[in-house]
Amino acid sequence: MLRTRIIGTGFVTGENLVKNDALARIMDTSDQWIRERSGVEERYYVETGTSTSELGLRAARKALEDARVEASELDYIVFATMTPDHFFPGCGGILQHKLGIGNVPALDIRQQCTGFIYGLQVSDALVRSGQARTVLLVGAEVHSGFMPWTRWDYLFGRGGEPPTEEERAWVTKFRDRTVLFGDAGGAAVLRGEEGDRGLLGFKVHSDGGAFQGLYVPACGFAQRPYITVEDIRAGRHIPEMNGREVFKLAVRRMPEAIREVCQAQGVRVSDIDLLIAHQANLRINEMVQRALELPNEKVFNNIQKYGNTTAATIPIALDECRKAGRVKDGALVAFAGLGAGYHWGAALMRA
Ligand code: ACO
Repeated sequence: MLRTRIIGTGFVTGENLVKNDALARIMDTSDQWIRERSGVEERYYVETGTSTSELGLRAARKALEDARVEASELDYIVFATMTPDHFFPGCGGILQHKLGIGNVPALDIRQQCTGFIYGLQVSDALVRSGQARTVLLVGAEVHSGFMPWTRWDYLFGRGGEPPTEEERAWVTKFRDRTVLFGDAGGAAVLRGEEGDRGLLGFKVHSDGGAFQGLYVPACGFAQRPYITVEDIRAGRHIPEMNGREVFKLAVRRMPEAIREVCQAQGVRVSDIDLLIAHQANLRINEMVQRALELPNEKVFNNIQKYGNTTAATIPIALDECRKAGRVKDGALVAFAGLGAGYHWGAALMRA
């Protein structure tokens, strides 16, 4: 049977490490609050000018090297991000150009934190329908572009002036969201191979009815012009988030999707050897783990080090697990995620 196997992975972060204490220099927050409520200890932000496609490129090069595949062997690129370099075109084509492989089809997908899982499903469909043999799947984000502060040098500890009281109060308005996110890119090389190992199946869902629980209110083509000075002044270019709603949904929907995909594949949840879930909040993942009654050694989390990197969380975690020897041959690996849209889902893979 033709199956899609992940034959290489890689990731990169933004260039600047920022610990929770550094964020407390520019807004009213604390290391203790961020750790206790989200699990995040530190995250990375890019240098000004480093784009999502650039992080995607750096991650892609690592994944290609890991897979021992040349860029010229790629038949398709799938790029998942919610923070593209431009409104249009998407990052897929830009990455294709940067890789120097003109004319290879490049697809962009917009499923936010579930982007990588949707990307796995699309890539698998391309491979199993014979339209591609080798696919590059990338999830990358530069969230720092929507952060409301301007005092980057001060934040990075490179001198500069501290924020004024007024600036500090403004930045603090968005603290529930901004402390969670980091910049990073992850990539995987997928290839069709005969055998039983590889991606087994997917269960993905969407519900656009409640999209305003997590969205960017401005910067949309339904208004003229699609971004205004007033939008920026009011902070409408910064995501709005109903944290509690997202939290409750994630805790309910991720276990549901994992149970569904296990049932469809005729395996038990207890057969899962490794669960790699989207990294939005450590408390969410601990509740998902409890709901599924999985022991600690079967669950991997790394939000502590990177924060929420949206489409990049799953490939980063997968790469860390592979390099640490946690993805044993024949192991049953489950992926799950939920994010803005809302989109959510799960995938199963036989390593
Ligand atoms: N530092 C200090 N205090 C804060 C901060 C902060 N960074 N943020 C909020 N607070 C305060 C609030 O103002 C509030 O104060 P009050 O009680 O005086 O009003 C208090 O902390 C509690 O706030 P809650 O919002 O109730 O805190 P909660 O425990 O719900 O945690 C959080 C908030 C971390 C955002 C949580 O709800 C969460 O993680 N939700 C899920 C978010 C998520 O997954 N988002 C990403 C989705 S992925 C995607 O698609 C992009």
